[in-house]
Amino acid sequence: MRFLLTGGAGFIGSHTCVALLSAGHDVVVLDNYSNSSPEALRRVERITGKKVKAYEGDCCKAQDVNRVLENEKIDAAVHFAGFKAVGESVHIPLNYYENNINSTITLCRCLSAHGVKRIVFSSSATVYGADNQPPYKEDMRVGGCTNPYGWTKYMNEVILRDLQVSDPEWSVVLLRYFNPVGAHESGLIGEDPSGIPNNLMPFICQTAAGVRDMLHIFGNDYPTPDGTCVRDYLHVMDLAEGHVKALEYAVEHQGTEVFNLGTGEGYSVYQVVNAFERVNGLTLNKEDAPRREGDLPESFADAGKAEKILGWKARRSLEDMCRDAWHWQKMNPRGYHG
Ligand code: WQD
Repeated sequence: MRFLLTGGAGFIGSHTCVALLSAGHDVVVLDNYSNSSPEALRRVERITGKKVKAYEGDCCKAQDVNRVLENEKIDAAVHFAGFKAVGESVHIPLNYYENNINSTITLCRCLSAHGVKRIVFSSSATVYGADNQPPYKEDMRVGGCTNPYGWTKYMNEVILRDLQVSDPEWSVVLLRYFNPVGAHESGLIGEDPSGIPNNLMPFICQTAAGVRDMLHIFGNDYPTPDGTCVRDYLHVMDLAEGHVKALEYAVEHQGTEVFNLGTGEGYSVYQVVNAFERVNGLTLNKEDAPRREGDLPESFADAGKAEKILGWKARRSLEDMCRDAWHWQKMNPRGYHG
């Protein structure tokens, strides 16, 4: 089958290209490269030995989306494209709402007009908010987000559900990602954050590489076993393989389904740091620091539904995540611009 990936040159999109091509599918990418590089797609071609058809364009512009749909026969779309920096979203909320909501609406209108009524959406565990206790289950009441980025994920879920109710021919799959980290085993593609990384694993990698002086561990007095926050870290190639299953499911079914994509296992910040040091044989400059505003003590998935219905289960370990993240960092000290 042939799938459209908006934002397909980004971190999760590029790894999903590899997984789809390896599973025998074709991919068409629509990306405006605002926070990604076409080099990632060339690397995907190197890894897979297959072609990636790419269009430069913006999902908020109907003419850009229509250009792809007029040229390509598409079976379903995955909508990765969007702004994703939590902190930035607090400072420029209108940009986040405008971009992340408009792109979904425009994309769905264009898909519908071309008779492609199947979409997989990149949602986030952040929609579970502070009102639920982990392990998070898909049927928990969502909302209560703590930042505009999280609200755009929540609102897009609502919009897509409503669309499907209005037109039962639609197939909508909402994927709630936990904490994707790591990189493709080859070290050719990986996470390439712009500026100072906000997320733990890229910050660890840059500290190990000497790009950053010191890793700050935000908060050691949480009500968790070692006092640091617990998250459900997930290897990005496992996540990518989850998209293959979700797309195949979307093609076979109608309705709206939501799946957590996580391992179901929580690790603390100290555990991640220790694993990274152990696996890669190095010592990080690190110090305990005050809590970061907005962090929840614990977040991890109940991953049972994806296993039962999609037949998907994360296979890679925390050690694999740490090794592959560092491999990518060492091979690409300046990301795709090196
Ligand atoms: C993990 C843990 C930090 C950096 C966020 C978004 C979520 C999703 C993924 C993506 C926390 C601690 C971090 C550092 C640290 N969004 N930490 N020092 O906050 O669980 O999820 O990213 O597009 O929606 O909310 O992930 O990697 O930022 O943090 O101690 O320098 O690491 O406090 O406990 P988070 P994270």
